[in-house]
Amino acid sequence: MIIANWKCNGSKKMIQDWSKHYKDTYIPFKNTFVGIAPPYIYVEQLINLINAYDLDIEIGVQDIDISSGARTGAISVDMIQDIECQFTIVGHSERRTIFDESNESVSAKIDSVGNKVETILCVGESAKENNDKETRNILEDQLSVIEGKVLPSSFSVAYEPVWAIGTGNTPTPEEINDIHKFIKDVVQSSSENSIVPNVLYGGSVNDANAESFFKQDNVNGALIGGASLQGKSFANIVNIFNGKAI
Ligand code: 13P
Repeated sequence: MIIANWKCNGSKKMIQDWSKHYKDTYIPFKNTFVGIAPPYIYVEQLINLINAYDLDIEIGVQDIDISSGARTGAISVDMIQDIECQFTIVGHSERRTIFDESNESVSAKIDSVGNKVETILCVGESAKENNDKETRNILEDQLSVIEGKVLPSSFSVAYEPVWAIGTGNTPTPEEINDIHKFIKDVVQSSSENSIVPNVLYGGSVNDANAESFFKQDNVNGALIGGASLQGKSFANIVNIFNGKAI
C-alpha cells in the first residue's frame, strides 16, 4: 500500500504534469493499493486524469468530518463516497498540532467512516518524546482511540514520527520494523475483532531510502508527503515497492 499525502499543495497545472510524469515512469503492477490524497477541490480533476490515462490509482482525502449538516467548512464521509473516494487519512500529526485535533475527535471520525471508505490512522511521537524514550507510551495513547471498536479488515495505521516528517531524518529500518510490530500487537489486542492492520511508514520517504524500509517484514507500505508531489519520484517509489527496477 503506497499512499501520497499532498497536504495543502497542488494546482490544476501541477496535477496535469504530475499525471503525465507518473504515467511515463510507473511500471504496471497487480495487487498493490496505490492512493493519492489531494486537497478536496482537486479530487475530481485528478479522478478524470487517472481515468484518462488508465492509471491504477485510488483517490482519497486527507481528513474527514464526523457528520453532515450545519457544520460550516466541513466535508462528510457520504460526500467523499459520492465522488468515488476510496479512503481517508485521519489523525495526521499536522491535524493534531495545527488544528488541535484530539484523540476524542479522531475516535469519532473513525466511527463516522465505519466501513464506508478505508481509514488510515496516523500515529507518531514528537522529537522530545522520542528523546525521552516515550515512543511506545505515546503510540499506545494514540491507539487507544480504537479500543473496543469493531474495525473493518481494511483498517490501516501509518507510523509517522513527527520528527521525521519533512526533515530528511528517519528512524533506522530496524527501529521502524520493531515499532510496526508493536502497533500491530496493540491494535490486535485492543480492537474488538482483533484485527492485525497493515502498517505504513511515513516521514521523509523518498526513492533513495524506500527500499530499505520495504525490506522489513512489518512494513506494509508508505505514506509519502514531499516525494509524492513529483509524479516521477512517486512512481519510482511505487515501482520499488512492486519489486520493479527503476
Ligand atoms: P514527508 O514525506 O514530506 O516527510 O511527509 C510525510 C507525511 O507527513 C505524510 O503524511
